[in-house]
Amino acid sequence: MPNSALQSPPWDVHRLPRADGRTVLVTGGNAGIGYFAAEQLAGTGATVVLGSRDRAKAQAAIASIGARVPGARLRHLPLDLADPASVGTAPQGLGRLGLERLDAVVLNAGIALDHPPRRTGPDGHELMFATNHLGHFALTAHLAPLLRATPGSRIVTTGSFAAKSERLDLADLQSARDYKPKRAYARSKLAQMLFAVELDRRLRAAGSASLSVLVHPGGALDALTPARPPLHTPGTGERLGHLPLGLVVQGKDAAARPAVRAVLDPGVRGGPVLWSPRVFGLRGEPRPEPLWEHLADPATAAWLWEASCELTGHQPQF
Ligand SMILES: NC(=O)c1ccc[n+]([C@@H]2O[C@H](COP(=O)([O-])OP(=O)(O)OC[C@H]3O[C@@H](n4cnc5c(N)ncnc54)[C@H](OP(=O)(O)O)[C@@H]3O)[C@@H](O)[C@H]2O)c1
Repeated sequence: MPNSALQSPPWDVHRLPRADGRTVLVTGGNAGIGYFAAEQLAGTGATVVLGSRDRAKAQAAIASIGARVPGARLRHLPLDLADPASVGTAPQGLGRLGLERLDAVVLNAGIALDHPPRRTGPDGHELMFATNHLGHFALTAHLAPLLRATPGSRIVTTGSFAAKSERLDLADLQSARDYKPKRAYARSKLAQMLFAVELDRRLRAAGSASLSVLVHPGGALDALTPARPPLHTPGTGERLGHLPLGLVVQGKDAAARPAVRAVLDPGVRGGPVLWSPRVFGLRGEPRPEPLWEHLADPATAAWLWEASCELTGHQPQF
């Protein structure tokens, strides 16, 4: 199938275009991939807002980026994605920071729980589904007026390779009957990815100037990630022990690049495409790949959109 969105102009991850005057919100910008996305974006002159539930961690991340990027413009937006009340205050929070435009939001924050029992957030929804999918769905709805008002704005959704072999259980969306943590995580990421695809479809149908861009970071390990003390200080033994894995996966600095490209590259368009690392989708420079087959199923994506509206009480409108 010819897909013009798959044509990728050259992109140098070390020579990013300037983005002075633009504002980008990165959820979970205080740690991991989100931290490195924020650091790389701050280097372009953009104002970067770290959406974080922990003020001390956000301030430490701001100090770390500030020490590396002279003149970085950084702000903290208090944001707990598992808590609908916190998500609902995001527009006012940005207003209090004096921000009147939002050029991009990177929906990056996420949790992956390893062990039973099944946990729920304040509104009773399964915690990974609530944080990773419903929280970002509602956040997009709350931010839609600001994104609509900013020409060419982008909603960048972070998926996962884990979703590639997973399917939603439409009769048990939140694993209430049968909970397996790894599967529930993969399904929450699949839900996010289907949301991004459905949002893209709706934006294009409406002739909107906003873009929904779907990315995934590949495989990213803390042990392969450069130190950012006091946020992240991998021990020498840990680093050396994991070096061979660098043939397959990457550090979180490299894993941030698909999202950074999705925010900045003027060549990125909407359409059925996924931005992911070049080498087996696990490591390497970001490039577009065709949507996985099950992501391109419009019926499931539309069904999930309606279910998410019902569960959150909000609908992203552009
Ligand atoms: N690492 C990988 O190999 C990989 C692969 C595929 C996809 N991903 C995706 O990439 C994204 C980032 O992963 P990562 O490896 O960087 O994870 P990470 O190092 O664990 O960082 C996760 C970030 O999400 C934040 N977060 C968690 N729950 C939150 C909540 N309720 N409200 C607000 N923020 C919350 C965390 O904040 P706190 O510090 O407060 O906990 C932290 O900033 C996730 O969406 C993940 O699913 C990662």
